[in-house]
Amino acid sequence: SPRNLRVLLDMDGVLADFEGQFLKRFREKYPHDPFVPLEERSGFYVTKQYYDLGQDIGTKAFSIYEEKGFFLNLQPIEGALEAAREMAEMEGVDVYICTSPIKKYTHCVVEKYQWLDKHLGKEWMERMILTRDKTVINGDLLIDDKPNITGGMNPPMWQHVLFTSWHNRDVVPQGSQIRLDGWLPHSNWRDILEQKRQE
Ligand code: TMP
Repeated sequence: SPRNLRVLLDMDGVLADFEGQFLKRFREKYPHDPFVPLEERSGFYVTKQYYDLGQDIGTKAFSIYEEKGFFLNLQPIEGALEAAREMAEMEGVDVYICTSPIKKYTHCVVEKYQWLDKHLGKEWMERMILTRDKTVINGDLLIDDKPNITGGMNPPMWQHVLFTSWHNRDVVPQGSQIRLDGWLPHSNWRDILEQKRQE
């Protein structure tokens, strides 16, 4: 029988709502500062867009996701946990979580594990891959909202499924990239996996 399909799932922006929590906390902590509404987000890095509003705003933006509790308190993206569970139970599919921690790792790294434990359970610890270079990870599909994923392996083994987010909604998929518009019931993620399995 054919080998299992390896699916790599990104956390921030795919399972966990980084952007929503960032904006909420920024506005709570800095109510008198300018901010970027979600509809006006562009470019992967929130911090870059906030730096464009001023050096001090950029520094404040950084301080938001370096805070203790930021990563643990991210809300699951709608439908993501249900989809992840269903995917993990599929015959012939191996699911991994593939996520890049921030360089100030103190809270982020442990809270990523805690988040996964809290929302999906202990058995998911087995699936966790933390790396700053996703291109060196072996997989058939990487579902990730970051448009340009580069690193030491070019091209990577996986096909990039660009998960729609506010910041990438106008990005035209490049090369073999395909788009996935969320996890809600109309989502075509099952078709994408089925198609890949048949290649
Ligand atoms: P990933 O979604 O590719 O796994 O990487 C997300 C990581 O990047 C996460 O740890 C947060 C970090 N990050 C920044 O450092 N600055 C930003 O502006 C954004 C959006 C994410």
